[in-house]
Amino acid sequence: MALLHLTFAPCPLNRLPMPGADEAHVWLVDLEAPCDNWLSPAEQERADAMRHAEKQRHFIAARSALRLILSKYIGGAPEQLGLATAAQGKPFLDMPNAPQFNVTHARGKALIAVAHVPLGIDLEFARSVRNLDRLVENYFAPEEEKILTSLPNDQRAQAFLAAWTRKEACLKATGEGIAGGLHRYRVTLRADEEAQLLSIDGNESAAQAWTLHAFAAFGDGQAAICAASPSLAVQGFAL
Ligand SMILES: CC(C)(COP(=O)(O)OP(=O)(O)OC[C@H]1O[C@@H](n2cnc3c(N)ncnc32)[C@H](O)[C@@H]1OP(=O)(O)O)[C@@H](O)C(=O)NCCC(=O)NCCS
Repeated sequence: MALLHLTFAPCPLNRLPMPGADEAHVWLVDLEAPCDNWLSPAEQERADAMRHAEKQRHFIAARSALRLILSKYIGGAPEQLGLATAAQGKPFLDMPNAPQFNVTHARGKALIAVAHVPLGIDLEFARSVRNLDRLVENYFAPEEEKILTSLPNDQRAQAFLAAWTRKEACLKATGEGIAGGLHRYRVTLRADEEAQLLSIDGNESAAQAWTLHAFAAFGDGQAAICAASPSLAVQGFAL
């Protein structure tokens, strides 16, 4: 798979300059590492309502890491940052000229992306996929279905997950979430192709306003980042 080669530098201790106009920072977070709890009362209420202990622990760790990371860019106490949630669930900072960010978590790991422009990030780990053909038929564009069904069986699940990650990063960038329609965002999915958003609702020039990158994270994790910018350099940090 033609992936962006991303390395993750140790966490800078102090304030950080915001990424430049065509840049994003991606933070790698281990949700099992000990951390402070920086949740707001509303976030704590959400955590308290979670019945699954591991899910609760990971939500607290991811949200606390997000608050700590954002405070490195804008200053202030992590627990006092004004995080709000848009209609379809995308969290944002409720302040003028706020940095844009997005979060993904899976299997006790999280990626947090920060930039000037709206962006989305997604992470999936290699696994077998049940009902793959039905998912492809329901959620992918006909051209994508043709490519995926032509792949040998042993390559299909990986190509499917790579494509899903890319599409979901796009839908998280716009804030629509999966309900926005995975089939509307056509992406590259051949192993020898770089990640690219090819069209939105069949419109190729609309896709050129966005940059999509795919990269490996946490061993066998496949990740994708999509941002509202025609070019995007990505720098990695580990918390
Ligand atoms: C949001 C969504 C894309 C997450 O997919 P996922 O693979 O399960 O989870 P990920 O780990 O990649 O991302 C989860 C994070 O994305 C962010 N997020 C939530 N909704 C989002 C949206 N519409 N757009 C972008 N980011 C979103 C949150 O930070 C969330 O983390 P949190 O729950 O700890 O706050 C998917 O659940 C979805 O599309 N939901 C549709 C919207 C919805 O049902 N909303 C119901 C609540 S209002």
